Amino acid sequence: MTDPQNRPTVGVAVVGYSFMGKAHSNAWRNVGAFYPDVPRAEQRVLVGRDPQRVREAADRYGWQDAATDWRAVLERDDVQLVDICTPGHLHAEIAEAALAAGKHVLLEKPLANTVAEAESLVVAAEAASARGVLSMVGFNYRRVPALALAREIIAAGRIGEVREVRTAYLQDWLVDAEAPMAWRLRKEEAGSGALGDLGSHVVDQLQFLLDDRIAWAGGHLRTFVTSRPGESGPEQVTVDDAAWATLGTERGAVASLEVSRMAHGRKNWLSLEVYGSGGSLRFELESLNELVVDTGAGGTRVLVTETDHPYLSAWWPPGHVLGWDHTFVNQAADLLACIGESRAPSPSFAEGASVQRVLAAIEESAAQSGTCVDVAPAAPPVVPHVPASTAPPAVTVLEQPR
Ligand SMILES: NC(=O)c1ccc[n+]([C@@H]2O[C@H](COP(=O)([O-])OP(=O)(O)OC[C@H]3O[C@@H](n4cnc5c(N)ncnc54)[C@H](O)[C@@H]3O)[C@@H](O)[C@H]2O)c1
Repeated sequence: MTDPQNRPTVGVAVVGYSFMGKAHSNAWRNVGAFYPDVPRAEQRVLVGRDPQRVREAADRYGWQDAATDWRAVLERDDVQLVDICTPGHLHAEIAEAALAAGKHVLLEKPLANTVAEAESLVVAAEAASARGVLSMVGFNYRRVPALALAREIIAAGRIGEVREVRTAYLQDWLVDAEAPMAWRLRKEEAGSGALGDLGSHVVDQLQFLLDDRIAWAGGHLRTFVTSRPGESGPEQVTVDDAAWATLGTERGAVASLEVSRMAHGRKNWLSLEVYGSGGSLRFELESLNELVVDTGAGGTRVLVTETDHPYLSAWWPPGHVLGWDHTFVNQAADLLACIGESRAPSPSFAEGASVQRVLAAIEESAAQSGTCVDVAPAAPPVVPHVPASTAPPAVTVLEQPR
């Protein structure tokens, strides 16, 4: 299908309409205005559980329809892309069904709650990719222009060989011991706590920035508040409140990781510092337009808003800063571009599974009082991989392969 300007269109369904559902809706609503060269996203249907609330959200966020049954949505011929913004325990079930139905999938991070689920998703994604159906994980911080620029600087060798990385992702929304139970505090729904929620972003970002893989991990987990008010009385917290790890990469760099949802005063503080043999980079998410580049003269604060910086040609004149929400628009544009060109998007489910294996290694190490463990290797592919570039053109995909 094409729009009046002859752009191919991609009908989108988003499952989940709360925090991420709202952020992704904003992205699907605006991506066409800022990225005119990618297929046009059509906001077909928003999916939730409560009919009235999902209808209200659909109206507010610009969706044509609202629905309460995601399975029925997979039957719709006018939906080509399913964007999953639900708690982790639903990721694998919805994503695998969507891929089997021939829908491209964008799946929020972390990929899954367990390594077994993650590996199963990789198999499903590889089988789908052989049919021209694409999948991507929503690690949106890859789409922060300053971090995309940091990756380019590291790849160009401008800070030399990376030796040490210091990472922290700290929040404080659980610091109050009376904060109520939520799905994020139940292992069966969230998989893990700060480790999976925040640590997954950090691990993906580490592997992305360095273009390297984490090979071993030594970690510790703590649950400071073990019981919280539930709907019918006190309920056990079954995930970590904070996690720490030392990580080693295949190329020999060493990284520290610190994540917490109980760090008083920290709201959404992701800090990344990369130290190489010839310089360093420093970044904080709460100042996301800035990157400090130090190659020996005391450090330069680069305002990452120039039109030749990653993603910036789509946005405003230099100095007119971007925010957190723009990362989701950039992410939507990248995925639509891949669909338009029948190209495999990144981060793939395989990359998401590699993050999952690192999280599992940190948990395994923590259970052994911090003894370092090797990160498990990826399972061998079950389906021979067909690069997306040799797959059928996207227009065929858009017209519902079954
Ligand atoms: N990229 C990021 O920065 C970021 C930030 C926060 C959350 N996340 C991820 O996004 C996902 C969702 O988190 P959130 O913060 O939006 O959670 P949330 O609790 O705000 O929203 C979850 C949504 O899922 C819906 N839902 C639950 N079960 C459903 C079902 N059976 N059918 C249809 N809808 C259902 C709920 O109605 C709700 O709208 C998680 O995987 C989380 O890790 C990513």
